[in-house]
Amino acid sequence: MKLFIDTADLNEIKEIASWGILDGVTTNPTLLAKSGRSLQDVINEIFVLVDGPISLEVVSEKAEEMVTEAKQILTKIPKNYHKNVAIKIPMTSEGLKAVKKLSKEEIKTNVTLIFSANQALLAAKAGATFVSPFIGRLDDNGQEGMRVIEEIMDIFCNYDINTEVIVASIRHPIHVIEAARLGADIATVPPDVLRKMLKHPLTDVGIKRFLKDWEKVTK
Ligand code: G3P
Repeated sequence: MKLFIDTADLNEIKEIASWGILDGVTTNPTLLAKSGRSLQDVINEIFVLVDGPISLEVVSEKAEEMVTEAKQILTKIPKNYHKNVAIKIPMTSEGLKAVKKLSKEEIKTNVTLIFSANQALLAAKAGATFVSPFIGRLDDNGQEGMRVIEEIMDIFCNYDINTEVIVASIRHPIHVIEAARLGADIATVPPDVLRKMLKHPLTDVGIKRFLKDWEKVTK
């Protein structure tokens, strides 16, 4: 399973990219606002840090405007990085129309705010490169988010659909394990959850013990 980082915080992206485990980045307007950086600032650095799909979201609501905004975003990015740009489009009928147009022009899209398998199917039919079901927000709402991932994976597998599934709105490491067990293509994971995936108390205890024993040998 590919791992994306779900943040617009450049320091976090830099640090975690240095672990050698990142396959891409997802951002959204909320994450950009939290980073305190402008879209142009983030764009200038992010493509150098990670060589993989980078999702940048439009905020327009009409299909034509979304397409124009997507193309404006592309003008801010050097041509050699265009292959890595995925335009994030919200799951609405206008969004589907925009996805259809962008996919015809071979511009990658990531349909966001997906909360059901039917929405994922429609987005895939429109030509989405990626779909992003938000499992944490479903869990918050008293529904089983991972059940939606299971349904999407079954449907996409039944019909050999190429659209990749990005499990989004991840809250904890068990979400990542469950996504991987279901065969999801990608999990986009916030930095704090990536750090929790890295750590185990027994690893720390083990290192301490090895170092202590090594001291005895070398004395
Ligand atoms: O990638 C989507 C993600 O950013 C949404 O996460 O935590 O706002 O539900 P959250």
